[in-house]
Amino acid sequence: MKSAEIAINGVRMMQRIIALADIGSTGDGGSCRLALTEEDRVGRDLVVSWMKDLGLEISIDAIGNVVGTWNVGTGKPVMTGSHIDTVRTGGVYDGNYGVIAGLEVIQTCQESGLTPSRPLAVAFFTDEEGARFSPDMLGSLVYAGGLNLEEALDIVGIDGKRVGDELKNIGYAGSTPCPGESPHAFVEIHIEQGPVLEAEGFTLGAVTGVQGISWQEVTIQGQSNHAGTTPMNLRHDPAYVAAMLTVYLREIAERFGEDQVCTVGKIDLHPNLINVIPSRATLTLDMRNTDEDSLVDAERLLDTFCFQLEQDEGVSISKRTLARFEPVQFDERVIEVVERHCLSSGKRVRRLPSGAGHDAQMLARVCPSAMIFVPSHLGISHNPAEHTELDDLVTGVNVLLHVMLELADTVFS
Ligand code: HGY
Ligand code: MN
Ligand code: MN
Repeated sequence: MKSAEIAINGVRMMQRIIALADIGSTGDGGSCRLALTEEDRVGRDLVVSWMKDLGLEISIDAIGNVVGTWNVGTGKPVMTGSHIDTVRTGGVYDGNYGVIAGLEVIQTCQESGLTPSRPLAVAFFTDEEGARFSPDMLGSLVYAGGLNLEEALDIVGIDGKRVGDELKNIGYAGSTPCPGESPHAFVEIHIEQGPVLEAEGFTLGAVTGVQGISWQEVTIQGQSNHAGTTPMNLRHDPAYVAAMLTVYLREIAERFGEDQVCTVGKIDLHPNLINVIPSRATLTLDMRNTDEDSLVDAERLLDTFCFQLEQDEGVSISKRTLARFEPVQFDERVIEVVERHCLSSGKRVRRLPSGAGHDAQMLARVCPSAMIFVPSHLGISHNPAEHTELDDLVTGVNVLLHVMLELADTVFS
C-alpha cells in the first residue's frame, strides 16, 4: 500500500489515551502522575506493554527514559515521542498524545505492510513536567547530554525525595547509558496548550521553536513574630515581600509586553499559622520570553527589586536557579517537511513558537528536530478541562506519520 493512502486508527488512538488517563485519574477528567511516583510507574508499565505488543525493541536508560524501536530499514531511527508524566492537575493530552501518536504511527505502518527505510522509534522521557523535580525536560536533557547523569540522579524534589532513589523505587533505573544515541531526526506532536491555533482558525501548527525558560526558587528570611502585638513598622514580614514580588512580576510582564510571561506558581510560608508573622516565605518564579535578551533584562530587574526589598523590609532574600533554558530554534529543514505535510492534509496551518517547554527542544541539541501542534480548546492546559477535538488529534497523527516516513528518506548533509 502506498504511504499516501494509509491513515491511522483514531478510535484505537483515543482508547489508548483514555486507558492511560485512567491511571492517576483525578476524577474530574484529568490525571495526576507526577514523575517517578507509583502512578507514573503504572503509566510507564502500560505504555511499555503497548510497545511490546508492537514488537518494539525496548531500551530503558539510566535516567528512566524509555525508547521503543521498530527495527526495520537501516541506519539511525527517526524518533518521535514526548512524556507521560503530568502536573498535579493534568489533562489527558499533554505529553500522552505525543507518545500514543508514535505508537499509532508504527502500528499503522505495520498493519499496512509499509516498511520505512529507517527504524522508527517512539520515546517517553522522564520528568518532562519538572513539577516534582526541577528542571523540566529533565530526562530528555540528560538524554541529549545537557546534564550529567550523576547530577540528575542527585536532584531532590519538592517533597525531599531524590531522583535516583525514586527511579529505583519504580523499577525504571535502566541499564542503557546516558547520553542516548542521537536519532536521525526527531519530531514531536503535542497539543498547543495555548489559544492561538483555535482563535485564528488553524488546525495545525508547524512549530518554529521554544521560548526561553527561567525558573527560580526565592527564599525570603524575615522575623517570626506575634500577629497581634507587633506594630507594623517593626515587622520583617516575608509574606508581604512575597506578595510584593508577585505583583512586581506582573508589572514586568506588562512592561515587556506580549512575549513576556511571569508566574508565581508555588508559595510556602513557615510556620504557616494564622497568628504568626512568618519567619520564611519560599516561592517559585517562572519567567519566559521568546527573546533571550529580554529574559535576561527581566531577571536583572527582579534582582534589583529584591535588593531594594531587602533594604526596605529588613529581610534577606536568596535565589536558586531551578531551570534556565535559552530559546530554541528548530531545524528549518524539518519545519519545512512538517509544514508541507500539514498543507497536504488540506487543513490550515501556521508557524508559531511554543510557549511551553518540550522534549523536542532537548533533542534539537543532537539531531534535526521540530514539532507539530494541534489546537487546545480555549488554550486551556495543565488543567483537567484540557481538550482537543478528536478530528484534530487524528489529523495531527496522520501528518506525523507522513513526516516521519519522509524524514526516514531525507539525507541531512
Ligand atoms: O513547563 C513547561 O513548559 C512544560 O509543561 N514542562
Ligand atoms: Mn507537555
Ligand atoms: Mn505540561
